[in-house]
Amino acid sequence: MKRNKYVIANWKMNITKSPHKVIDGVSKHLLKTKKNSCRVVLCPPFTHLATLSTKYKNLDFGGQDCHQHNEGAFTGSVSAYMLKSIGCNYVIIGHSERRNYQKESNHELRMKLIVAEENKLKIVFCIGEKLNQLKIRDKILKKQLSALPSSFNTKNLIIAYEPVWAIGSGKTPSVDEIDRAHIKIRNILNQKYKRKSTNISILYGGSVNSKNSSNILGIKNVDGALVGGASLDKKEFCKIIDSSSR
Ligand code: 13P
Repeated sequence: MKRNKYVIANWKMNITKSPHKVIDGVSKHLLKTKKNSCRVVLCPPFTHLATLSTKYKNLDFGGQDCHQHNEGAFTGSVSAYMLKSIGCNYVIIGHSERRNYQKESNHELRMKLIVAEENKLKIVFCIGEKLNQLKIRDKILKKQLSALPSSFNTKNLIIAYEPVWAIGSGKTPSVDEIDRAHIKIRNILNQKYKRKSTNISILYGGSVNSKNSSNILGIKNVDGALVGGASLDKKEFCKIIDSSSR
């Protein structure tokens, strides 16, 4: 079965002087290079989402998080319903930075997954071990994946394997290690969703750049990349997109 390939930009809370310039460059690049077989998704900060998703209809946009309720007295939060209503089709859930700083629990993440699915958003669910958990990586991945409800529309589910120690560090696991982790994740998903798991794309994230992207995206069990720092630079990000089609 041929799974969708993705290259997804996670801008996090970084300040880009001219977000339109970056998006404009990516948009033009994609129009020029029609051969791209991957789907490109941009997840800028919430403050840019509405204007960018209205202006660039040829691109897909996503939120970096959503609340576990559709509406209510939750100061500072943005819901899946709101994301959908401004034209976003994707949302990142369970990023390690949120697990770490916002102390997001498995229970809370499950609620977010359910509400995002109800709103028909495509979910990029992030999992990954910390450095001190390397030896028990498989156990950690299994526990994090247990947040996924057993009855779920897997067509809207994408997994991003992001080893916490690789994020923003310039370090990446070896090609073999990434492959092994992805095979493990695939096995867990197979057990959980049986045949329905085959269409779930599994992306790698953590220090992906234009120099290592060909190697990483060339791994058999890797269906794309979730890119942080390198996605803030138009040229760098476009090179990563191009390496996904080789
Ligand atoms: P970097 O690409 O900056 O390491 O970030 C990865 C990440 O966290 C994407 O969600």
